[in-house]
Amino acid sequence: MPIMNPIKKNKFSILFNQDGYLELSDYIKNNNFNKILILTDDNTKENCLDIFISSITYKNDEVSKLIKSRLFYYSVKPGENSKNIDSSIEIWKFLIHNRFKRSDLIINLGGGMITDLGGFVASTFMRGIKFVNVPTTLLGMVDASIGGKTGIDFREIKNIIGVFEFAKIILVDYRFLYTLNKRQKTAGYAEMIKHSLISKKSEFDLITKINDVENIPYELIYQSIIAKVNIIDVDPFEFKIRKNLNYGHTLGHAIESYFLSIGRDLLHGEAVAIGIILESYLSYLKTGFDYEIANKIKSYINTLFEIKKFSDSDISEIIRLLKHDKKNSSDKPMFVLLENMGKPLVNQAVTEKEIEDAFKFYRV
Ligand SMILES: NC(=O)c1ccc[n+]([C@@H]2O[C@H](COP(=O)([O-])OP(=O)(O)OC[C@H]3O[C@@H](n4cnc5c(N)ncnc54)[C@H](O)[C@@H]3O)[C@@H](O)[C@H]2O)c1
Repeated sequence: MPIMNPIKKNKFSILFNQDGYLELSDYIKNNNFNKILILTDDNTKENCLDIFISSITYKNDEVSKLIKSRLFYYSVKPGENSKNIDSSIEIWKFLIHNRFKRSDLIINLGGGMITDLGGFVASTFMRGIKFVNVPTTLLGMVDASIGGKTGIDFREIKNIIGVFEFAKIILVDYRFLYTLNKRQKTAGYAEMIKHSLISKKSEFDLITKINDVENIPYELIYQSIIAKVNIIDVDPFEFKIRKNLNYGHTLGHAIESYFLSIGRDLLHGEAVAIGIILESYLSYLKTGFDYEIANKIKSYINTLFEIKKFSDSDISEIIRLLKHDKKNSSDKPMFVLLENMGKPLVNQAVTEKEIEDAFKFYRV
C-alpha cells in the first residue's frame, strides 16, 4: 500500500490507511470520548465493520481495549431511502437512550449516504457532537465525506435539510473498495473525472489512461481528494470557487431527479457523467471550449458508462425540473462551464434550445 501523506487543515484532517488508524485512536484517547457510536448501513456493517474494528484496535494495547469498551453500534438499511428524517429520529432516540453526551463521538462508516446522514445527526444532536467520517465508497472517498456538507432528503427533495459541519477526521482506507461493486466504483469515478476537468489538463490526461475502474491507482484517488480539498479550503461555504464543483451537476441533478420520479434506475454518479458530457458541449457553445476536447470527454465517458436513451419528452421534463432546482437563485438555471481545462466559469446562463442541442450531441 503506497504511503499517502495526511492532509491537515484547520477544520479537518484527512488520514490514510494504517497510520490513519493510529492517529484516530490517539485522537479518541486524547479527547477522552466516553461513548462512540459507529453508524453503518447493513452493507457496510457486513463488509467494512470488522476491518475497521480490527484496524483501530490493531495495537491491542490499553488504548485499543479502552476504545473497544466504549463502542456502540447502529445500522440503517442501505440506499438513499434511509437518508431521511425518520432515520435521523431513530438515531437521535438511540443516542438519548444510551445517554450520549455532547462530549461523545459518532463515527460514520459508509458511503455518502451514511456520511451525509451521520454528519447531520451528529451536528444537530445536543447542538452538535463531534464526528469522524470513514468513507467506504469511491464517491465517499473523493467527494461526499469531505467538505462539511451534511444533510438529508425531505419530501422527495434531495439534501434539502442540512447543515455545514466538518468531520474532524476523515479516514480513508482503500481496502474498503475491495468489496464495492463495479457499478458503484464507476459512479464514483464520475466525480474523479469532474475533479480532473476543473483542475488542469494534465489531470484529465491521467484520468483517461484508466479503462477499468477495478484498477484505479491509489495515487489518482489521492490526487482527486487533493483537488476537492484545495477548493473547499479556500471557499468552504460555496460563495465563490466551491461552485466549480457543480460542474456536470446542474443537468446531472435534473436527470437524476427525473429518473427517480419515473422509477428509472440511475446512480448519482451516472447522472453526473451524463451531465459532464452535456455541460462540456454547452461549454463549447458558450465559452469557446475546444469541440475536440468536448468530443474526447464524451467518448471517454461513454466507454465506462452505459449510454442512456432520452426521448424528446424526457428532455423537456428534465428542462422543467432544471428550472425548479433549489440551487438556482432565479428561475433561470445557471451553469458552471469550462472555458478551458482547469478554467471553469460560474453563473453561465444557457437557453433551452442549447440544452436540447447538448442532448443531441450526447445521443450521437
Ligand atoms: N456531502 C457531500 O458533499 C456529498 C457529495 C456527493 C454526494 N453526496 C451524497 O452521497 C450519497 C451517495 O453516496 P454513495 O455513492 O457513496 O452511495 P451509498 O452511500 O448509498 O453507497 C452505495 C451502495 O454501496 C454500498 N456500500 C458502501 N460501501 C461499501 C463497501 N465498501 N462494500 C460493499 N458495499 C458498500 C452501500 O451499502 C450502498 O448500497 C448521496 O446521498 C449524495 O447526495 C454528498
